[in-house]
Amino acid sequence: MSYEKLPLQPFFDKIDELKPAFVERLRKAIAIPSVSGDESLRPKVVEMAHFLVDELTDLGFHDIQLKELGVQPPPVENKDLKLPPIVLGRYGNDKNKKTVLVYGHYDVQPALKEDGWSTDPFTMYHDTTKDILYGRGSTDDKGPVLGWLNVIQAHNELKWELPVNLVVCFEGMEESGSLGLDELIAAEAKNYFNGVDTVCISDNYWLGTTKPVLTYGLRGCNYYQVSIKGPGADLHSGIFGGIIAEPMTDLVKVLAQLVDGNGRILIPGIDDMVAPLTEKEDKLYDDIDFSVEELNAAAGSDTALHQDKKAILKHRWRYPSLSVHGIEGAFSGGGAKTVIPSKVIGKFSIRTVPNIESAKLDKLVIDYVNAKFAELGSPNSIKAELIHDGAYWVSNPFNEAFTAAAKATEDVWNIKPDFTREGGSIPITLSFEQLLGTDVLLLPMGRGDDGAHSINEKLNMSNYINGCKTLGGYLHYYGKA
Ligand code: BES
Ligand code: MN
Ligand code: MN
Repeated sequence: MSYEKLPLQPFFDKIDELKPAFVERLRKAIAIPSVSGDESLRPKVVEMAHFLVDELTDLGFHDIQLKELGVQPPPVENKDLKLPPIVLGRYGNDKNKKTVLVYGHYDVQPALKEDGWSTDPFTMYHDTTKDILYGRGSTDDKGPVLGWLNVIQAHNELKWELPVNLVVCFEGMEESGSLGLDELIAAEAKNYFNGVDTVCISDNYWLGTTKPVLTYGLRGCNYYQVSIKGPGADLHSGIFGGIIAEPMTDLVKVLAQLVDGNGRILIPGIDDMVAPLTEKEDKLYDDIDFSVEELNAAAGSDTALHQDKKAILKHRWRYPSLSVHGIEGAFSGGGAKTVIPSKVIGKFSIRTVPNIESAKLDKLVIDYVNAKFAELGSPNSIKAELIHDGAYWVSNPFNEAFTAAAKATEDVWNIKPDFTREGGSIPITLSFEQLLGTDVLLLPMGRGDDGAHSINEKLNMSNYINGCKTLGGYLHYYGKA
């Protein structure tokens, strides 16, 4: 596809010039440990919302609102814990322009230096030799969220009009299931979000490390917990070992029967719901730029379950997977504590794909877990439940938004992007599509090896800066389309 280039060079130059300010903005954001999954850090999540409000205010956004979502529903430790607010804002309100809603999340995954970080996760570290910015949230999703603000700052300083009306919607619970956001979108569809023409989400990554992508699919995620309860308190294994039933023993037996070592889910009935692979879809994977070496490099190991590109991509994008995440209440420190934990909670999730029905999946999973526990004949008690679920999403990448984003990407990176799906989940994507009746575009900033959710999460400076150019360029091409 050849296309008429827009005269965006002054904008790109301005982004380059403002680099120090943009790096400073990211440094401040990373310094706020807005971990949504840690109840004790909820005030920091709220602080992050206020940080964004202040930035939006300074940049000239109007109609800025903090939307409260009430208290967090169970399972939760503190029954009165308030959900963090949704941050809404507008820039421009011109009837003759199209309106783009951009969504991002200002919460982050937990991170501790002890997890193995080379530097403190909440103190941005700029490796000036490699020109890489490290810190929790750098790529997921503070860098991209700030990217939109940076675009506005560049326009302000150039005294350029924004080519579209921009509506921002930033949430603080994405990493913990986007609680309350569906309801907010439904309530605001005909109010705050009235007139939105398209939605753009920058909260995913390139597939590899060199080639930009545009993304038209995501897997869903149903997250479960299984609690097994026995004695009234943690006990001494010398005094009680061998004479009472141990919850931890039961739990590991149950968890061990969820998935095999080849990644095959052992719960019957799930595979039957997966959409069959057509020849046409199979061919799509041929042209994608990826390799098992890139997978190994991103994982930091040589432990891939599939050795050819197409199998890897299919298993990441179009087949379900089950991961066991952890056990709450289990002894996990160093040393050798001779304890019998009295109550343990196993956590696992299933990445869902077309055409898995969420409610049917929950029933299959919970019935299976209960049946496996019953087979143990244990006197302990069990409760298996869903913590949160989020839908998968697959769209058609041949619309105005994708076309505009492809042009902007080529302008900035001098290469045409690949069209990809993702194995991760942004459950709200489908909600935006359905509740607003618009298309959604996923326009990533970071790379496939950024280490989202992992230690040493990073964002390459070139991705941050060129990412801002791409986001801004997209608004221009979309505004003209
Ligand atoms: N940014 C990710 C989504 C993502 C992950 C996109 C990997 C592309 C590749 C998002 O912040 C995220 O982590 N989502 C959670 C959602 C879950 C809590 C329902 C996820 O995928 O685990
Ligand atoms: Mn994210
Ligand atoms: Mn994430």
